[in-house]
Order: sequence, then structure tokens, then C-alpha cells
Amino acid sequence: MSATFDVQNPATGRCVQSVPNAGLAEARAAAKSAIEAFPAWRDRSAYERSAILRRWFNLMIQDEDRLARLMTEEMGKPITESRGEVKYAAAFVEWYAEEAKRVYGETVPSQFTHKRLLVRPQAVGPVYAVTPWNFPAAMVTRKAAPALAAGCTVVLKPAEQSPLTAIRLEELWREAGGPADVFQVITTVEPALVSSVFFDEPAIRKLTFTGSTEVGVLLAAQAAKTVKRVSLELGGHAPFLVFDDADLDLAVREVVASKFRNTGQTCVCANRIYVQSGIHDAFAARLAEVVRGLRMGDPLDAATNVGPLVDQQGHDKVSAHVRDALARGATALVGGTSREGLYFEPTVLTGVAPGMRILEEETFGPVAPIVRFERDAEAVAAANGTPFGLAAYLWTRDLSRAFRVSEALDFGIVGVNDGVPSTPQAPFGGVKASGLGREGGKWGIEEYLDLKYVSIALA
Ligand code: SIN
Repeated sequence: MSATFDVQNPATGRCVQSVPNAGLAEARAAAKSAIEAFPAWRDRSAYERSAILRRWFNLMIQDEDRLARLMTEEMGKPITESRGEVKYAAAFVEWYAEEAKRVYGETVPSQFTHKRLLVRPQAVGPVYAVTPWNFPAAMVTRKAAPALAAGCTVVLKPAEQSPLTAIRLEELWREAGGPADVFQVITTVEPALVSSVFFDEPAIRKLTFTGSTEVGVLLAAQAAKTVKRVSLELGGHAPFLVFDDADLDLAVREVVASKFRNTGQTCVCANRIYVQSGIHDAFAARLAEVVRGLRMGDPLDAATNVGPLVDQQGHDKVSAHVRDALARGATALVGGTSREGLYFEPTVLTGVAPGMRILEEETFGPVAPIVRFERDAEAVAAANGTPFGLAAYLWTRDLSRAFRVSEALDFGIVGVNDGVPSTPQAPFGGVKASGLGREGGKWGIEEYLDLKYVSIALA
């Protein structure tokens, strides 16, 4: 097995940097040191942990240029968005630096006068975190910050496409005074081998994973062998419902923000756009006009809106979805074609109908498929007709309709006239095949806390 592997820039195909390729020995060493470091970290005061997290946050903000560039070079995110992601990622650290101090217990009245019943949250234990390439900074901090704040130690395995940002975050953690064994990043192109060490080790008490449903199900099954706590943030297939009474310009602006964010490579991207017939033609025409104006190109150029797809596999899936839709009768109002390298033109499709692959699976690319509908109930049924349940969106000016439809949508997150609802203080996560648990806000830290009930009988 080679000692290092190359990280490729998807925009140029060139190697950005080589990083260590961990195997069994390195994984065992990381697990051992995380397990040994746990009691001392857990027993530090919440104020001490908070202070280190706060310094980590400050360093991330100061390091914005370098982190953003690394991110863009390793996975192709347009640089303006990478800068935004550094702030988004740092905001999780800031939030949990504060939340560390608010891990409250409870007392419960007893029916016996001589008993005192206490419920005390305690750190779960050492955590194994597996993060995706599409948000190389924010998915690291959305997991690591609450875990570290709660008193857990963390070994984090970033995706092989984007380890450089995670490595830089680990360096900043140490600069902030964070103990080396408390937050470790392990990079590898042998994820199954490395992960097996953490799954087989009973003292690793928690798995947290963001990625595909297929892989999440496999990892959860392995984590079950040693009865670990599990949080899974899995695939999405977000519907975006535009009703006749929607503010057209706002709906178009927000669908573009949702759909083309990170070149369409987010779990919460609008993936199926259902538009009511009264507004359908005007909406499609306006969307096509705005998408035609998006600039595809070098992701390091601040004027670029759409960069390359992350790898050949990702590119081929987007291409296959569009080909299938066109072959079955859809029309490309804009785009529809693959370009040199890993680029795919920003695309708007109309005439999209059930049976097309693009309505069955997550596309993960810059393609906006529009489906016409007549009645509210029809749109809700279509939106819910998927095994996934991460994010959904709806556009209307009618408050009653906004409540009724948001309540009927079987999703963990609903944006009402809001195309980008993600924010550090809110619970992010899905239902059904989109996962288990929540990240962000006061709920995020609960994923790293067990409850200990202490019953005290007085003499
Ligand atoms: C994701 O795609 O998994 C994360 C997107 C977000 O945080 O908004």
C-alpha cells in the first residue's frame, strides 16, 4: 500500500498535494490515542473547552483565504462560495464554544421524600466521524465542534477527494491550544479498512457520518456490532414547490441559490422543481434567463458561479440523468451538454415527468428539472413520493397554504420562501432514508451526550 496519495484538482486534473495514506497501523494508533485522551478531555471544565473552541473559531476566521483556496483547489467549489463556507464552518465552532457552557442537567421530583433524582448529561465517549467532500470545512466543524464541546474526543476521516481542508483545520485546532489526541484527522484511500478498526473497537462510542444513504446503511450496520450511538446525514432529493401565487422573481432567485449552490452538489439542493400550471411558463422562462447568465469557469475566479463537478463518476451521473430526460421527451431550455473536463453546463429542463431518472435519484449537479402540476395535493403527493426526506421548499404568498403544505411535507427541513435555510443554530437532518439525528443548534450537542440518571436515597 502506498504511503501517500495525491489530491487532484477537478478543474485542472493536476495534483494539488500528496497526503498520508493511513492503513491499519495508523488507524489503530489514532483510535488508541483518542480513547486514552478521552477521560482528561471530558474532565476539563466546560469553560476550558469553550475557550479552546473560541480560539479555534478566531483562527479559522483569520485563515479564511488559505482555507477557501484549499477547498476550491481540492474539490472545485467556486471561490466566493468557499469563502462563505469558511464563515459557515467557523460559525459552528463559535456556536458550540458557547453551547459547551449550557449543558444543563435536570432534577426530577420523587414520590419519596427521602430521594433526590438527578439526570446528568455526560460525554458519549470517543467519536469516529466520516465527512463528505462537498463541504470540506462545514461538515467537519458541524460534527467536531459539538463533540469536542460535549467532552468527546474525535477521530475524523475526510473524503479522499478533499482531505486538505480537514488537515488545515486540525493544524488550527492545535494552534488554538487543542490537544493533539483530542481531535485527529486520518486520511486514506482505504476507507473500509481504516473504518473497520473504529467499528471493531468497543471503546469508540459513536459514529457520525455524512454521505450517501447506501454507504450510511453499511456503516450503521457495522457500528451496530459494538452498539455505538449513530448519527447519519444521508442523501436528499429535495422538492421545490412553486404555487401560482408565488413571488416569481423571489422564487427564481432562491431556486437558483438552492439549485446551483456548490454546482448543484449539496444534499439539500432543489432536485425536483414542481411548478403550478398558472405560473409554469413564466417561471420556466425567467429561470432559463437567469441560468443563461450564470458564469461557468475557473473556480478560483471570483466571478465564477458554476465550477467543475468533483470527479468523473459525479460528472457521468449528471450527464446520464440529462440524456435520459431528453430521450424521454424533456426539453433543455438552457444547457444540457457536457463540456471539457468535468464541467457540465448549467441546465434547465422542462417537460420532466415521472419515470425519468432525474425524478427518481439525487442528481448532484447543475440541472434544474421542472415538472408542471395543477392541484396542491398532487404536488405534495409527488414531493413525498420518495424514500428520502431531508429538505423541501415551497413558494407561496398565502399563509394558510404555507402552513398546510409545510405540515404535509414529510421532510426534516422545510424552507418557506427560503431557498437556503441551513444555519448553525437550527437542527439540520432528515427523516426516512435521509438519516438519523440532527446537527446544529442545541440539538447538535445532544447527539454527543448520554444521560446518566442518579437516584440518591438520603439517610
Ligand atoms: C450538505 O449538503 O450535506 C450540507 C448542506 C448545508 O449545510 O446546507
